Amino acid sequence: MTGRYRGVYERSRSDREGFWLEQAEAIDWFEKPTKAFDETLGVYGRWFPDAICNTCHNAIDRHVEAGHGERAAVIYDSPVTGAKRTISYSNLLRDVKALAAAMSDLGVEKGDRVIVYMPMIPETLTSMLACARIGAIHSVVFGGFAANELAKRIDDAEPKLILSASCGIEPTRKVEYKPLMDKAIELATSKPEATIVLQRPELPCELMDGRDYDWDSLRERYRAEIEGGRDVPCERVKATDPLYILYTSGTTGKPKGVVRDNGGHMVALHWSMGAIYGIEEGDVSFTASDFGWIVGHSYICYGPLLKGATTIVFEGKPVGTPNAGTFWRIIAEHGAKTLFTAPTAIRGVRKEDPDGEFIGQYDLSKFEALYLAGERADPETIKWAEAKLDRPVIDHWWQTETSWTIAGNPRGIELLPIKRGSPSVAMPGYELAILDEAAKEVPPGEMGAIAIKLPLAPGNLPTLWNADERFRESYLAEFPGYYSTADAGYMDEDGYLFVMGRTDDVINVAGHRLSTGEMEEVVAKHPAVVECAVIGMEDEMKGQIPCGFVVLKETDQATKDSLEADVIRMVRDEIGPVAAFKQVVIVDKLPKTRSGKVLRRTMKAIVDRTDFDTPATIEDASAIEGIERAIRL
Ligand code: COA
Ligand code: AMP
Repeated sequence: MTGRYRGVYERSRSDREGFWLEQAEAIDWFEKPTKAFDETLGVYGRWFPDAICNTCHNAIDRHVEAGHGERAAVIYDSPVTGAKRTISYSNLLRDVKALAAAMSDLGVEKGDRVIVYMPMIPETLTSMLACARIGAIHSVVFGGFAANELAKRIDDAEPKLILSASCGIEPTRKVEYKPLMDKAIELATSKPEATIVLQRPELPCELMDGRDYDWDSLRERYRAEIEGGRDVPCERVKATDPLYILYTSGTTGKPKGVVRDNGGHMVALHWSMGAIYGIEEGDVSFTASDFGWIVGHSYICYGPLLKGATTIVFEGKPVGTPNAGTFWRIIAEHGAKTLFTAPTAIRGVRKEDPDGEFIGQYDLSKFEALYLAGERADPETIKWAEAKLDRPVIDHWWQTETSWTIAGNPRGIELLPIKRGSPSVAMPGYELAILDEAAKEVPPGEMGAIAIKLPLAPGNLPTLWNADERFRESYLAEFPGYYSTADAGYMDEDGYLFVMGRTDDVINVAGHRLSTGEMEEVVAKHPAVVECAVIGMEDEMKGQIPCGFVVLKETDQATKDSLEADVIRMVRDEIGPVAAFKQVVIVDKLPKTRSGKVLRRTMKAIVDRTDFDTPATIEDASAIEGIERAIRL
């Protein structure tokens, strides 16, 4: 770490209170914080415990009040439907108020949960902000998940209302959200009182009398009420009140409900927009992800709007909608300063357009930098993008749990030298340690578990929804005094972090976080399966893809013949297409230790064709040969 950035980081450590209270000055509070952090509250402490605020006010109202109502808040660009639309801050405010009024009239109150199961359209962002406005807690569920996953989230969050749309549009098919939502409600024990469904012309759906409300009719009615003078003021919430719950994959089939607060989140995200992304008020920021993931929450919705910037809502894919030039077309057409996406998207673009011919067709004069996160950014992809774009390509590492960068390159303060393969250095608020199994720090260059010294930074999760104990067990128990990131890696002599992979059952498939443990739970339900293991296999395009190994009971040939297709369908039906579960291998036995633990790491090495030593504790070495034989077939 050098120069300006070192100064900022050191100050954040030596004067934590002063540093974060100063950053908090950028936020409009109903009651200002007098204290940044109180370690006596919550599981490990709470940020801005005495402040009162509203996130929607900071994301919209304050910009309109400051005279920027005509500025573009959202640019919707949808190559899959051909739609393009710009929404000003004033119009966004009107729409958010209208939806907030509709939700209030349906009985949604401060602290109630609202599930948002919607595609990449501006109404999804409106939904999130309307919840924030009335102090309701939203939980956005990614459209690539199956009904069963939605049902699990309904049962955990117990929403009063679900906001949805008739369909999402994938390049090869329309995703019918409505039947998925209906099925999820049927499966769930907790039943929402009402739903509001946006009918999309591409595939309208049937609404159920007495439960489902038509979005457009409500929009029309409540817009008229708002224009006629009805006000929907921003609810006063505590900085420590939850803004949203975002479910993420853990070790088991039960997703973890990551809780986000209002105050710490606003302060951290606002700071990150300038310091990390170099985005200022009025700039255009393009994040190509999905609202259903943390990147979409933080950098399509909240971050850019808190900063008073313009955010692009992109409904399409990096390739095929219609071609590998889409990202560059959007950057040029809307004057985006930054693009943030997952490395897998750039690998997809590179594969289609290896010479970067599309890049040369567009005016990228406003474009300053490409940001990558969500999975490890392989140096080859970075090198290609640097060469073709002639701009810094900035890797940064974070998690759903943190909501913003743990380690990154703070270009807005100072662009540090880039070391390909490293997301660079710790951001303020984070003290990183590489620990061995005994929780001792290892020397630079040595691999270990990456941990964050408590307390966590503002914006990071204070706990899991209704599950303090699970939060402690999952994250705080392994290394007392630290948060365990479940990533492994090392730090070099200059403080640059290298993140090498997860230490748990989480895999990253095309930048999507999934649990192999959860997939195993589904595969094991097949009546012919005695035992199974799902591992994340290296994949050139998606980073990792799941591969299932199954041991069968004595079974007839017909069952064996249809087994692969059946198991694949089960995973698709129960978890969703996003799992990209497409391979099943039948083996006689799984390699295990004498104590019965499946040697997943060894299996992974075999399928990835990397070197491994047969563990001394193996029960039966012939199981390894069986795996080797099976994958050769
Ligand atoms: N709703 C419904 N289904 C979805 C979906 C959504 N929002 N997103 C993906 N799916 C489906 C896809 O249609 C596909 O279904 P299929 O098996 O019927 O073809 C399946 O889930 C797997 O999708 P994906 O892994 O995304 O592969 P892909 O081949 O469709 O696209 C990329 C590959 C690289 C273009 C794509 O993964 C991508 O843009 N990734 C970016 C990742 C990202 O934004 N991550 C967030 C963190 S930054
Ligand atoms: P998610 O919660 O979906 O953001 O996934 C978080 C996980 O993705 C991390 O724990 C890492 O395993 C991985 N990840 C995210 N960003 C990076 C990165 N820049 N480099 C390496 N791994 C990353």
